[in-house]
Order: sequence, then structure tokens, then C-alpha cells
Amino acid sequence: MKKHQSFHTFISEYFEGIDTILELGSGEGTRILTPNYTMYSVEEDIKFVGLTDSNYLYVPTDKTGWYDRVILKRLLSTIPAYQLMIVDGPKGGRNRTGLLKNLDLFDLTIPWLFDEVNRPVDLETATNFSVLTNKHMMVFNSVDKQFAILL
Ligand SMILES: C[S@@+](CC[C@H](N)C(=O)[O-])C[C@H]1O[C@@H](n2cnc3c(N)ncnc32)[C@H](O)[C@@H]1O
Repeated sequence: MKKHQSFHTFISEYFEGIDTILELGSGEGTRILTPNYTMYSVEEDIKFVGLTDSNYLYVPTDKTGWYDRVILKRLLSTIPAYQLMIVDGPKGGRNRTGLLKNLDLFDLTIPWLFDEVNRPVDLETATNFSVLTNKHMMVFNSVDKQFAILL
């Protein structure tokens, strides 16, 4: 199977008709996407807010390790419709599992992409997400990790 540099280059090859993307977790990859897409990035660490041309939603994590739900819900109510969702945050450990308790905040009718599913905990989160949303999961290789598309 073809190896992609990262999921960022894969997106433009694989998906058509996408102009706005919402991502959990911003970083260097965000910079690859901003020339071609209107990006909204949920970011928990103030030092990474504003580093790219994305529209940042600064949402600190709470004691569960996931984004503060109250702040996130308020900020998400201010953004337009998005056609792709990327799960690449919060950073560390089991923190992304918190997504599964907050699915009502997001558009579940669109494609979702989970990065780093080579890590057992992130594969588990993506797999549980696919069961809860009845989406079909496909795993792809990038240079140094794997990502999953859920349709
Ligand atoms: C895996 S990164 C997100 C990456 C982003 N979606 C991308 O592809 O560039 C997850 C979190 O790590 C933190 N982060 C971002 N850039 C970083 C860097 N250069 N070094 C360490 N942590 C970083 C941020 O808090 C971010 O939300």
C-alpha cells in the first residue's frame, strides 16, 4: 500500500469538496493545511496558539485530561460548518479517550480522521468511536505512524 508523508498530504488527494476542517490539536501539520483549507484548531496549550494561520479555539484541558467541555461547547457554537474532523489532541496518554464522552458536541455525519492509531490507546479510541457512530474505519500508513479514516 502507498505510504503517505503524513495525513495532511493525504487529505487533498483523498477528499473532494472540503473547504473547512476542524481539528483537535494543532501543530506543524496545521501549517500544511492552512493554505488550502479554512482551519479551526482546538488547542489546549497557550504556547501553541496563534503559530499558524488557523483559527484557534483555546480550550485548556480539565482534570479528566480532555478539553474543558463548557469552554469547548461555547467556542464550537461560534464556528461555521466543517466538512472534515481531525483528532490529533489533546497531547499525551489516554487523554483523547475523553472525546467518546463528548460526541454530542460534534458533527458526526462527516468523515473523521484519527492520527497516531499505531498507538494502542489511540487505536482503541478510534475503534470505540467507529462502534458508537457506526462508521467504517480504514487504517493508512504514513512515514512514521498510522492514521485512520472513518466514513
Ligand atoms: C500531535 S500535536 C497536534 C499536531 C497537529 N494536528 C499537526 O498535525 O501538526 C498534539 C498537541 O501537541 C502539542 N504540540 C503542538 N506542536 C508541538 C510541538 N512542536 N512539540 C510538542 N508538542 C506540540 C499541542 O498542544 C497539540 O495540541
